[in-house]
Amino acid sequence: MWKPSQRIKYAPTPGFWPNQAEARDSQLFQPITYQALTLRDRTWVPAMVPWRALETGEVTEDNVDWYGRFARGKPGGLVVEATGIRDVPSGPLLRIGHDRFIPGLTRLTDRVRQESQGDTKLFIQLIDFLAVRRRPEPAKFLSRFLAITESHRQALGLEEASEGDVRLALQKLSPMELSEILTTREIEALNYGQRERVTDTHLPHIADLPKQLPALFAQAARRARTAGFDGIELHFAHAYTVASFLSRTNDRDDSYGGCAEARVKLALEIIDAVRSSVGRDYVVGTRILTEECIPGGSTIDDSLYYAEQFAHQGLDYISLSRGGKFDDAKQPKVGWAVYPYTGPSGYECMPQYLSDEFGPFGRNLSPATVIRKHLHRSGSTVPIIVAGGIHNFDQAERAIDSGAGDIIGFARQALADPDWFEKVRQGRGNEVRLCVYSNYCEGLDQKHKQVTCNLWDRSALNEPCKKTEDGKRRLIAPDWP
Ligand SMILES: Cc1cc2nc3c(=O)[nH]c(=O)nc-3n(C[C@H](O)[C@H](O)[C@H](O)COP(=O)(O)O)c2cc1C
Ligand code: SF4
Repeated sequence: MWKPSQRIKYAPTPGFWPNQAEARDSQLFQPITYQALTLRDRTWVPAMVPWRALETGEVTEDNVDWYGRFARGKPGGLVVEATGIRDVPSGPLLRIGHDRFIPGLTRLTDRVRQESQGDTKLFIQLIDFLAVRRRPEPAKFLSRFLAITESHRQALGLEEASEGDVRLALQKLSPMELSEILTTREIEALNYGQRERVTDTHLPHIADLPKQLPALFAQAARRARTAGFDGIELHFAHAYTVASFLSRTNDRDDSYGGCAEARVKLALEIIDAVRSSVGRDYVVGTRILTEECIPGGSTIDDSLYYAEQFAHQGLDYISLSRGGKFDDAKQPKVGWAVYPYTGPSGYECMPQYLSDEFGPFGRNLSPATVIRKHLHRSGSTVPIIVAGGIHNFDQAERAIDSGAGDIIGFARQALADPDWFEKVRQGRGNEVRLCVYSNYCEGLDQKHKQVTCNLWDRSALNEPCKKTEDGKRRLIAPDWP
């Protein structure tokens, strides 16, 4: 992962832990109700992909155990990982693109209800993503994957040669020579792996996205309701399809790109379709970015406009993240896929303990405050969820107090210690295992390996516990005292 050049080391701080009565009276542990959303308190676990589904996208017992473990800590809200709205091969990631996924998802919602005794509300993040291929072997790319064009032939002076001879000639060129012959996109496909963009409107399936996506999201939302989720979260953040429509880099010329009004059009059509499918009495939220954190990307001005549009469209909450884009991601190794959390924008999304003078804790709070204030001025009190390096009670309480958010997201902290919520509620904050922001978990996500936390393995790994496929790591957080 990219790190700021200053490389200042930060450590998490426990801060002040409240006793039971202080916790009960705090803002963090007050209930919240807005439209269809009711939470027992303002604690939240944002979506985190654990890489535990079947290759065919169904829920496994490991998925059920994973969410059951979070539910035992009883956060107010828990969001199931980004789940694909199409039934297309995508590795061991959850899917909801067909009714056949409903029984497995129902097992998952049942377990969360049982483990949290109904105290945790469960949401599922719905995602669409475009094709991203692994970085190819250069020889394979030039001999098989690259589509040979007239412009390649002309540049090589091989207008009449066979395709095989053109490919052989390309393979003899140096990287510098290749860069003069291949287009920018072909060079990117060679060096990073081929990646579709929402602006590739010459491809019929990309041109048709605005026709396809509202219905796909609506059907997925209906399945989520049938499976017993308390609501759905539309994933409009990071590097994925709808976020790419919202991005300032979207210059489609078909009324879905260009100015902000055009860029938000698809997202609003999706919200409309989802509402018609699940009704007004069901929680429909979204996750968006405060800032894309890439050159030429969307800024806080865009987010203010989007958040206002979404709030007035009747969403039940808006969860704020930042960064996490493909545009500035590091070059992957050959055979690996580019990962949108390896560049500076990725750092903004999941900042780690080596940081700059600002540090890794609460980097999204200032823009979140601006957005929430703007919404209040525009007459909306839609709950804002904010996350990013929050690990202790003081930080969470201050974030609410200062107006940065109504609900506080703890992603990696909940992974490090899923019992954070119950411990703090019961006045046992001093027993919390604090996340050290090593990003070991994020490294596993990058390698598409089962995500775990390295704090889970610090001691007594020989105690009976379910381990990862390689037998080396705990698959679930231990039941710490
Ligand atoms: C292993 C892992 C997987 C993640 N998967 C998702 C995801 O599926 N959807 C999403 O919106 N964010 C995802 N995130 C980002 C988190 O939800 C969160 O925004 C980020 O980690 C910053 O919050 P934190 O500092 O509390 O961890 C993931 C983070 C981690 C560490
Ligand atoms: S591996 Fe554990 S301690 Fe490290 S960042 Fe992830 S959750 Fe935190």
